[in-house]
Amino acid sequence: MTDDTKVTLKINGKEVTAERGTKLIEVAKESGVEVPHFCYHKKLSIPANCRMCMVEVKGAPKPLPSCYTEVAQDMEVFTNSEIAQKAQKGVMELLLINHPLDCPICDQGGMCDLQDLAVGYGSDRSRYIEAKRAVPDKNLGPLIRTVMTRCIHCTRCIRFATEVAGVPEMGATGRGEEMQVGTYVEKALESELSGNMIDLCPVGALCSKPYSFTGRPWEMEETPSIDVMDALGSHIKVYHRDGKVMRIDPRPCDEINEEWISDTARFSYDGLYNNRLTTPYIQEKGKLVSTGWDNAFEKIKTAVKKSKPEAIAGLSGKMLSAEDLFSFRAFMKDVLKTDHIDGRLGGQFLPTLEERNLYTFGNGVESIDESDFILLIGTDPKLEAPVLNARLRKATQRGVEVALLGTEVNLTYPITYLGNTPQILLSVIAGEHALSKKLQKAQKPMVILGAEACLGRVDGVSLLKTVQDLAEQYGITTKQWNGFNVLHQNPGSVTALDLGVFPQKEHLSQAPKDSAEIAKAAKKGALDLLVLYGDVNLPVADLRKAKTVIYIGTHSSVYAQMADIVLPVAAYTEKNALWVNTEGRIQEGKRAVMPPLQAKEDWKVFRALSGVLGAELPFNTQKQLRAQLEEVLPLYKERGVLTHAKGRLDHAGQLSDEPFKLPVTQFYKTNEVLQASSVMTQTQDLANARKEAQLQKKVG
Ligand code: SF4
Ligand code: SF4
Ligand code: FES
Repeated sequence: MTDDTKVTLKINGKEVTAERGTKLIEVAKESGVEVPHFCYHKKLSIPANCRMCMVEVKGAPKPLPSCYTEVAQDMEVFTNSEIAQKAQKGVMELLLINHPLDCPICDQGGMCDLQDLAVGYGSDRSRYIEAKRAVPDKNLGPLIRTVMTRCIHCTRCIRFATEVAGVPEMGATGRGEEMQVGTYVEKALESELSGNMIDLCPVGALCSKPYSFTGRPWEMEETPSIDVMDALGSHIKVYHRDGKVMRIDPRPCDEINEEWISDTARFSYDGLYNNRLTTPYIQEKGKLVSTGWDNAFEKIKTAVKKSKPEAIAGLSGKMLSAEDLFSFRAFMKDVLKTDHIDGRLGGQFLPTLEERNLYTFGNGVESIDESDFILLIGTDPKLEAPVLNARLRKATQRGVEVALLGTEVNLTYPITYLGNTPQILLSVIAGEHALSKKLQKAQKPMVILGAEACLGRVDGVSLLKTVQDLAEQYGITTKQWNGFNVLHQNPGSVTALDLGVFPQKEHLSQAPKDSAEIAKAAKKGALDLLVLYGDVNLPVADLRKAKTVIYIGTHSSVYAQMADIVLPVAAYTEKNALWVNTEGRIQEGKRAVMPPLQAKEDWKVFRALSGVLGAELPFNTQKQLRAQLEEVLPLYKERGVLTHAKGRLDHAGQLSDEPFKLPVTQFYKTNEVLQASSVMTQTQDLANARKEAQLQKKVG
């Protein structure tokens, strides 16, 4: 029996089999034949407007664009015959008529598709003597630098903005010789994904503004890493030179970030060098004074001696790896003997590992591509995980309905807005809501809960139980399908829950305190010692009332400024680390550069301090630390895979009618690296000004 879905054809004389409907350019690529192209991109629609990908197809009267032509049975294709080459070279000649001779001073040099292809298909002589066309540059804001004379009108940027980002702000005006690509009315780009246009632009028309004229690709070393600006865990490449991060680009990963990263991931690296803590500090006469590690450790030893374990507490913050949290927990529990620790940034949910399905992203973010109905609860994915939001947008383009319960926000695609009280869920469960029928009809429905807005509520556990009931009733969780998902905002949140960096009774006779209770105790002056590890998102005025505050972090933030002793540690590009994303997937990021000056990797600080305090933590190397981590959490042995726990909640209290609050309002300022970045500050200022102007317009 023949397989109707497959066809057999020949490419340059070699027989290949391909799926019916596949484009020639893709089949050629799979068989090892690269066809030159500019406008084609597999994640975008196909305009076939550059004509660079012309190939000869036997029997066709003229060369055909391989990006648009589908394979057919018994087709014979020649990608480098005389006819094909003549067409390709002709297109290159036309493209170069108006292209400036900029390569030596062009930021794209060394990573430019046009430059590369011109070597193979261009000529070293031009037949044209007319003046070259020149196009004025556009100001697209602080992130993208334009040199529009170099634009070859491939429309990739326009298609990305319209199709993927969902902010149709790029377009073409004029025709023929007069055609110009830009934002119609000159303005800064609004999309949180705008930097991806730089990668897509096959020439140097759109370049990274912060990177401009700072380096050349061949000078850089490249290190694979994981983004920590949100909890999606996007794959990134960190480019560095002479021990300094110079540029960050995405690494393709279809399961997580496809080919995209957010602007915060791409452009925030200047924040790694501004306002950094590079030596330990101690507070003297109301001022932070730099000191050596030994002195800082001695001060801590004295403070610990004066502190009772029940009056010691520790809070951990954002952007922390598995090793960081493992060593922090071990330090607080095994060295300082306290149970008052919390890394959850609010909330009452104290899960076990068996309930991992209740605090991670079910079957992985890729399962969005399969879902046929999506219910968002208390989340704004556009600001919490913009790359994931692009995947949701892609689902709506397939005709999938997205409903939103929570604060009404613009998500770049149409939504069915349900309101902003969790009580609505009860009427859905009772079958009395319009949503009930839609969920009933869906084959693979999905729910996405915003972690902070949902689990961080006072009634977080009740809400989780209610959504669990809804999920079981409407086939969101079945034997075959798990559409129950939690979207976290910070890398480290899932690890904190996995490891139990939350109040658990172990050493003390009294009940362990959560973050709110720790803040309350500090405010009352009832804490002898408070260890703050990173940005803990709690009022500084309350925390500073603890008798001694130790701050361990990367930046001289408000927490560092009020602390008695400050210890500098490594940022995410400065350590080999396991990062756990919102799916619960364990991914390894490699160290690109060393921590600045006296700053040290986090686990080394906890290990060294434990020795000074006379209770050495049992690891001397990162390998030993990882072995212990994997012993406690065997699932951390497997990198990159999803784990499928099947826990359920049995009891819960009352659901409150309090509306959902959104955790992210200032997208470009959500963590310490972003706050220290001047590029991100400019971008946030522009976003705020735009919002203000829109508000004025509405009111006026
Ligand atoms: Fe050269 Fe490419 Fe820059 Fe054009 S865009 S000047 S071909 S490096
Ligand atoms: Fe293509 Fe770049 Fe021009 Fe946009 S700016 S149309 S991506 S060449
Ligand atoms: Fe085929 Fe542009 S890549 S026409």
